[in-house]
Amino acid sequence: MDDMTTANQTPARRPRVFSGMQPSGAFHLGNYLGALKQWVQGQDEKENFFCIVDLHSLTVQQDPAALRQRTREFAAMYLAAGINPDRCSLFIQSHVAAHAEGCWLLNCVTPLGWLQKMTQFKDKAARQESVSAALLDYPVLMAADILLYDANEVPVGEDQKQHVELARNIGERFNHLYGETFAIPEPMIPKVGARIMGLDDASRKMSGSNAHIRGHAVRLLDEPKEIEYVFKRAVTDSHGEIRFSDDPERAGVNNLLGIYKVITGRSEEQVLADFASARGYGDLKMRVAEVVIEELGPIRERYHQLIAEPAELDRLLAIGAERARSVAAPKVREMMEKMGLVVA
Ligand code: AMP
Ligand code: TRP
Repeated sequence: MDDMTTANQTPARRPRVFSGMQPSGAFHLGNYLGALKQWVQGQDEKENFFCIVDLHSLTVQQDPAALRQRTREFAAMYLAAGINPDRCSLFIQSHVAAHAEGCWLLNCVTPLGWLQKMTQFKDKAARQESVSAALLDYPVLMAADILLYDANEVPVGEDQKQHVELARNIGERFNHLYGETFAIPEPMIPKVGARIMGLDDASRKMSGSNAHIRGHAVRLLDEPKEIEYVFKRAVTDSHGEIRFSDDPERAGVNNLLGIYKVITGRSEEQVLADFASARGYGDLKMRVAEVVIEELGPIRERYHQLIAEPAELDRLLAIGAERARSVAAPKVREMMEKMGLVVA
């Protein structure tokens, strides 16, 4: 990252990273390879805030008990996958009141038209009978998440790029209206693993909302037998050729190679060399299943340990929330002062 010179930043500070994940749907290999694994790999060089955005999940109707359970499961999953609580502030969004407060204040400088243009809102609204005001406001809450921390880098998938750009616009507008307050964030889209496709249909992104369809996704807690089953059934093509390709017809094989590449961290040439002696797609699928099983085994084990120790999980989340609060609360106060509120 470059040295951004905003009011409260010194160039010497380590780049600050903020990212969030909604605790909805099943946690799958796409979330892991496209987001979580990359956060873990980058965590030592940066100052990290990772947030389980439960308030965002409420923008569509949730079963309360299930939401509560999944929120804790997601936290355990982050830790199990290697998020180091000494290096990262891992916390639950609703534990830090500044997010909702900051969202309100930013609402007051955000033109309605900006929100109505968001493609994710248009898609989601079209699919629902009743659309909450919060669904429209969702990107403003996301802007608060990011701006309150003066985050420099926001690792997200391609689908969230527009929201990060909106956060930039909102931040710039606030700075313009009230004076330098926020660092302007950059979206960081991973080059590899950005799009893990469905194993049953490589034209669709692997997604939590389809994870209940057997064969579509590998869920992070799947047992080895299930992982093998899913890979065995993965769609390929009739070319019988193991190579990377952006031809939609070869998307299945490309996806399998991509998964292998992200997990092993090998280059495309090395990956192809690994498969030079493979006998057909059957071998390819088995080998990819093997590396996935090896990668997920220790995560699954650690996850079950963490879930069995709820007090320890709560302790780590309380520390994360405290660290987050120490950054976000003074920032909200600064916003309130600048906007003319009587700050107590
Ligand atoms: P979601 O579950 O869609 O809210 O996504 C949470 C995070 O995982 C975001 O950073 C997404 O971009 C990433 N992600 C979700 N699905 C995939 C996928 N199929 N391939 C790569 N990354 C994904
Ligand atoms: N909207 C993001 C998603 O669905 C989740 C999110 C909320 C987020 N707040 C954020 C991501 C702040 C990055 C930064 O994936």
